[in-house]
Amino acid sequence: ADTLRAAAAESGRYYGAAVAPHLLGESDYAATLNREFNSIVAENVMKWDATEPNQGQFTFQGGDQLVAHAQNNGMSVRGHTLVWHAQQPGWVQGLTGDNLRRAMLNHIDGVAGHYAGDIDSWDVVNEAFEWDGSRRQSNLQQQIGNGWIEDAFRAADAADPAAKLCYNDYGIDGVNPKSDAVYRMVQDFLARGVPIDCVGVQSHLDSNSDLGTYRQNLQRFADLGVDVQITELDIGGSGAAQANAYRTVTEACMAVSRCTGITTWGITDKYSWRGQDTPLLFDSNYQKKQAYGAVLEALNNA
Ligand code: G3I
Repeated sequence: ADTLRAAAAESGRYYGAAVAPHLLGESDYAATLNREFNSIVAENVMKWDATEPNQGQFTFQGGDQLVAHAQNNGMSVRGHTLVWHAQQPGWVQGLTGDNLRRAMLNHIDGVAGHYAGDIDSWDVVNEAFEWDGSRRQSNLQQQIGNGWIEDAFRAADAADPAAKLCYNDYGIDGVNPKSDAVYRMVQDFLARGVPIDCVGVQSHLDSNSDLGTYRQNLQRFADLGVDVQITELDIGGSGAAQANAYRTVTEACMAVSRCTGITTWGITDKYSWRGQDTPLLFDSNYQKKQAYGAVLEALNNA
């Protein structure tokens, strides 16, 4: 196959990109998205600050635009993200105790309920662990306590029973104390019947990142009984080194049958959150980079 989406589809996988709706009017941006990708995730517009700027008042304009674009172009949609310590609206940051818990549950009900049926997988909870495997001391952790993560998954399951429910994080790309902690949480949730279906491995990487245990790490989550998805892939660098790292990541996903799709965190270096790192598959002029060729080859060879 000669596009990412077609090559991924041959093994039943998707190849996705993080998208900002205000860029869809740029013709090269939309043309590249539509030609190469068959999954969309919102880079920002489905987050808490964007969807519930005032308590109980939901705005879905940007997210609705992305869902419509996906449906009109044969793409699935990942939901990102229901609960996160960052990009919370100001009113959330002032809440304490059970007020925060009830606001979180109401937010999940509002957003996951609105998009019920449209979302393939939700990042229910994002980035709740520290490098050493301890819980991040966010307002959610401090005000609600350890149970906040499973509360969030149960609420998401109630609001959209059809969506796959993911825990998503960075720095869990290899076997390390942080991914060990996520592994134990998933194991515990499965044992106790807390609804969880997938782990999102963000994969914000560099050309010299150690990928020695990348595949093994994906496989151990799959062996627990959840899907894995590479959810925010970008790899700083250029040329052959960048292409090789992209190849390694792609081959790892293709080697793990429960690795169901790959999403790059953007389309073009022009709009990457990592600007100077040029971490994506298309350059600022929407030309295919060497890394693009490596990814396409790895998808096709699997
Ligand atoms: O929309 C406002 C705009 O109105 C304002 O004029 C401008 C001035 O700063 O800011 C705009 O908001 C920015 C927003 O991106 C949209 O561009 C925020 O400042 C900026 O902080 C925000 O950054 C996003 C970041 O998450 C926030 O934490 C990045 O675009 C987005 O790529 C990044 O994505 C995260 C994932 O959600 C979770 N994993 C890590 C990943 C990278 O940090």
